[in-house]
Amino acid sequence: MSLLASTGAPFARILGVGKALPSRVVDNAEMCTYIESSDEWIQQRTGIVERRWIGEGEDIQTLSVTAARAAMANSRVAPADIDAVIVSTVSYFHQTPSLAAIVAYEIGATGAAAYDISAACAGFCYAVAQAEALVRAGSATNVLVVGGETLSKLTDLSDRTTAFLFSDGAGAVVVGPSETNGISPVVWGSDGENAPVIVQTTDWEEAVATHQHPYLQMNGQAVFRWATSFVADAAKQILSESGLSAEDLDVFIPHQANDRITNAMLRHMKLPAHVKVARTIKHYGNNSAASVPIAMADMLASGEAKSGDTALIIGFGAGLVYAGQVVVLP
Ligand SMILES: CC(C)(COP(=O)(O)OP(=O)(O)OC[C@H]1O[C@@H](n2cnc3c(N)ncnc32)[C@H](O)[C@@H]1OP(=O)(O)O)[C@@H](O)C(=O)NCCC(=O)NCCS
Repeated sequence: MSLLASTGAPFARILGVGKALPSRVVDNAEMCTYIESSDEWIQQRTGIVERRWIGEGEDIQTLSVTAARAAMANSRVAPADIDAVIVSTVSYFHQTPSLAAIVAYEIGATGAAAYDISAACAGFCYAVAQAEALVRAGSATNVLVVGGETLSKLTDLSDRTTAFLFSDGAGAVVVGPSETNGISPVVWGSDGENAPVIVQTTDWEEAVATHQHPYLQMNGQAVFRWATSFVADAAKQILSESGLSAEDLDVFIPHQANDRITNAMLRHMKLPAHVKVARTIKHYGNNSAASVPIAMADMLASGEAKSGDTALIIGFGAGLVYAGQVVVLP
């Protein structure tokens, strides 16, 4: 007797991308009614002009489902042909059932394997790595990856060191089989020793016992230093493991944490001037796992990036965790 093993596609690629942004625009003037700050300070320190928060009738589920449907339409993959759904989120308030199972049902991917992952702002790139491996191993033909967040629900509006950063949104891609490679080897890792640098203030049990709503709290300067040194090095490693040179790269889509972090990464990597750089933080703020796919969708829709371009994507955040790869844009 010999045990059968699955065999998959020779390669995987991103087949299509979609996004969903909440309707409520919170500009810096409104933000400064909650915290002692100024439009000038927020723009100069982060690049953020305004951010999106959920409004009436919107929540993490509606955003995730809308982004998922857009990604399927863009990929021309029918719901029945989605075999697995992975949702990356840190702001879904149910421990169980998973958001992924609900999204799979709502989009009509009935019976698809479905699970959530928690890798904060690196979550989208973690999930793309998993999807690529599932497709190549033969565990799935098409995988829907969603980054969905409502960080406004974890934002402490009395904390002037974080409140202006966080936002809501969802982005999604379908990863499927390909004859040519569209996703390079992932470079990823974690640093749990520095877990206290970005935390949820209370766990659910403490929240109930103390009536304290949980919020995100962080040491911004420590994150900034780590992102502009260690993570910037990881970005260089992603490029080298992809087999491409900086000259071969068309697009750079880093997690939208702070425009100054993006600029520091660019300097560190010495990317040539022709490389198009994601700057969606200006209008959307930091929406964690959603930021990379939303930026990808926007850059393709505006024509700034085009189908077939090579894009270095990288996420980093609470854990601490990071991940990234070079992908061929759909
Ligand atoms: C949060 C962040 C924007 C703060 O910017 P910074 O340049 O590091 O600012 P600092 O914390 O050094 O504070 C500088 C000064 O601004 C003040 N300040 C802090 N928040 C302020 C606010 N909202 N408005 C005005 N001033 C503020 C500080 O009190 C400090 O004043 P001082 O010099 O008199 O002591 C920046 O550290 C950052 O973006 N870090 C990364 C965060 C991140 O990406 N987190 C998510 C992980 S994915």
